[in-house]
Amino acid sequence: MELPSPEQTPSLDELWRSLLPLGFHRASGGYRRFAWNKADLACRAWFTAQAADRGLTVRTDRNGNQWAWWGERLPGKALAIGSHLDSVPDGGAYDGPLGVVSSFAAVDLLREAGWKPERPVAIANFADEEGARFGVACAGSRLLTGQLEPDRARALTDDSGVTLAAAMEAAGQDPDVIGRDDELLGRIGQYVELHIEQGRALVDVGRAVGVATSIWPHGRWRFEFGGEANHAGTTRLEDRRDPMLTYAYTVLAARKKAAAHGALATFGRILVEPNGTNAIPSKVSAWLDSRAPDEATLTALLAELEEAARERAGRDGASLSVVNESLTPIVEFDHALRDRLAKTLDEAPVLPTGAGHDAGILAGRIPTAMLFVRNPTGVSHSPAEHAEIADCRAGVHALARAVSELAGGSARLGAAW
Ligand code: GLV
Ligand code: MN
Ligand code: MN
Repeated sequence: MELPSPEQTPSLDELWRSLLPLGFHRASGGYRRFAWNKADLACRAWFTAQAADRGLTVRTDRNGNQWAWWGERLPGKALAIGSHLDSVPDGGAYDGPLGVVSSFAAVDLLREAGWKPERPVAIANFADEEGARFGVACAGSRLLTGQLEPDRARALTDDSGVTLAAAMEAAGQDPDVIGRDDELLGRIGQYVELHIEQGRALVDVGRAVGVATSIWPHGRWRFEFGGEANHAGTTRLEDRRDPMLTYAYTVLAARKKAAAHGALATFGRILVEPNGTNAIPSKVSAWLDSRAPDEATLTALLAELEEAARERAGRDGASLSVVNESLTPIVEFDHALRDRLAKTLDEAPVLPTGAGHDAGILAGRIPTAMLFVRNPTGVSHSPAEHAEIADCRAGVHALARAVSELAGGSARLGAAW
């Protein structure tokens, strides 16, 4: 059995062509595929259609994650591959979709080579990985593994006040049944997620594909700065209780403290009330994303930042509340799986990442691994995100080899692959 050369992954082009228009925002050049919105539903329909074209059985689990099964009835636990199709606001084309598209293309490649799995293989499209609409990243995999309470999930709201429960219901997904699903997890033996690299390590070592080692601990915090709405043209400076000042000070403090700790801290989203040009705000809600090499550093950074913000709030006559919306501990991907994949892929380089992934959430329950495809600029969460087509093809090849190695039993493909 021979795998066609990396240049020959014909289905990859067609898969991209059909997915690229969905959720594309012409003015920004990016994608707006948010959990359960119209674009996301179009992507989910695309997933179903691609699976059907290949004769794969599609099942949607209790939490809205989609699974396309190849050989569902084969004995043994499944090898799951895949990623997600939702995006950050004006995100790039690759973050998530590259893993799903490459999974279908890898199945095509393996079939073309006449290879058959000896245990089930499932392609996953995890729901709401980015948390762009309801605030909690990896909501689908967190619910599946029991790391997100169903009641809390149902009550999450988007910026228009629509709850996750209502959004799921409108999409025909029953929100009453969400929650930990041990039956499904028990059927999956390993998960391997292919993803565009978010950073620029592979460029430096001249390789198209790498294997992940770990994910930095990271979390999201909602800072609410309260003040008093008043007239911008008539309120004396000394009479103001302006929460925007406290917010601005906190942004700068976050940057300073992150640098001091060798960590990262980003305020990338705010809501201002009443949001009028000629009104002092009554409230600023701001979301902090922070990540650090270890949990102690992350905890220390947050404590220091909250203390600084509180001190400043006192001087501004503002109030402050800080709520942790999600926290993901450090993830060490399964060492044996990582080493096996690196060896299979011609001693692929191994690298850590600061980005969160469903593979990181599943890692607490099953052995997981990730393959990264070179990103020449490192840019991600932006319309400028890019991977060269030759590297995408190399990624499909690598994933096909990984599937053959892990789900093949004696039917592994030989070195000629
Ligand atoms: C997911 O992309 C993250 O925010 O790390
Ligand atoms: Mn992302
Ligand atoms: Mn992603």
